[in-house]
Amino acid sequence: MANEEEWDQPDPDSILRSERKHEWISEPKYKRMFDQIENALQGVMGKGKFEWVDRRVFDQVFDRSTLLALHKLMEQGGIETIDYPIARGKEAHVFRASSTKGPLAVKIFHTTNAVFKGLAKYIDGDPRFSGLSRRHRELVNIWVRKEFRNLKRMRKSGLRVPEPIFSHKNVLVMEFIGEEGSPSPRLKDVEVDDPKSVFEDLLEIAALIWQTCDLVHADLSEYNILWRDGVPWVIDAGQAVTTRHPSAKEFLVRDVTRLTDWIGRQGHKVEVAESLVRVLDGPVPDLPALPSVG
Ligand SMILES: Nc1ncnc2c1ncn2[C@@H]1O[C@H](COP(=O)(O)OP(=O)(O)OP(=O)(O)O)[C@@H](O)[C@H]1O
Ligand SMILES: [Mg+2]
Repeated sequence: MANEEEWDQPDPDSILRSERKHEWISEPKYKRMFDQIENALQGVMGKGKFEWVDRRVFDQVFDRSTLLALHKLMEQGGIETIDYPIARGKEAHVFRASSTKGPLAVKIFHTTNAVFKGLAKYIDGDPRFSGLSRRHRELVNIWVRKEFRNLKRMRKSGLRVPEPIFSHKNVLVMEFIGEEGSPSPRLKDVEVDDPKSVFEDLLEIAALIWQTCDLVHADLSEYNILWRDGVPWVIDAGQAVTTRHPSAKEFLVRDVTRLTDWIGRQGHKVEVAESLVRVLDGPVPDLPALPSVG
């Protein structure tokens, strides 16, 4: 049996691969840019210069194009440092960042995913598929712009969603939902005092999204609702589609079902059909747009 020390030995092949992957960093064209943002990224990469960074985060998130996008956001969006990861998901990492005006959330979508990486070796070099990885990137960029617009539209209708501030390529910068510098918990992770009235609130939110914004969130659940100052904030709007989308009603039924499942687990049985009628036709308030934080 191998002893513990052996387990800790880094795999020399993977180090070499990683070195080659980042050779571009020392190309004169990129060196200055990288030097400029290296310090700003220390919160997420570990202390010291590039040699000491946490390569796993770095390899997964900060490819060349993402670093270029971040550089632009730092120059134009007033971001000073990327402080720490709030969440690491399959599709995106969310970081807390500091700007001249206060904390921000930076959602960086992965431009390569495991599935895509596995396929890439069968695609790269085959002339019939040249441009595919560019198309994949372009799809991610469109997704980011879609999340930006969806958040903007919801925000305009007075809904509590993070204000989108800036987006560039696969990076979305938005209002940080948190208290005293730490991110708010998800509804899934808190125990609320009066679940029934929170549920009424959530149905009203779903109704506002449908009736006022002409959208359906399409991933509304206790996982995508943050709990700040005793009220729910909706996040993660990339997949939201307009009510004219052929599957819009199906998505709405799924959203409402998830909310009724949640209230069911809090000990209150509520019918999906009844809640659905409320969302489709029930009264909605005319809310003023939330003030801008940016
Ligand atoms: N604006 C924000 N302020 C504070 N925390 C945030 C913000 N946006 C996202 N988060 C945190 O990051 C996590 C992931 O964000 P989000 O749901 O948007 O990404 P995702 O990659 O689509 O995640 P998943 O696939 O798990 O739904 C959230 O659960 C939340 O904890
Ligand atoms: Mg989510």
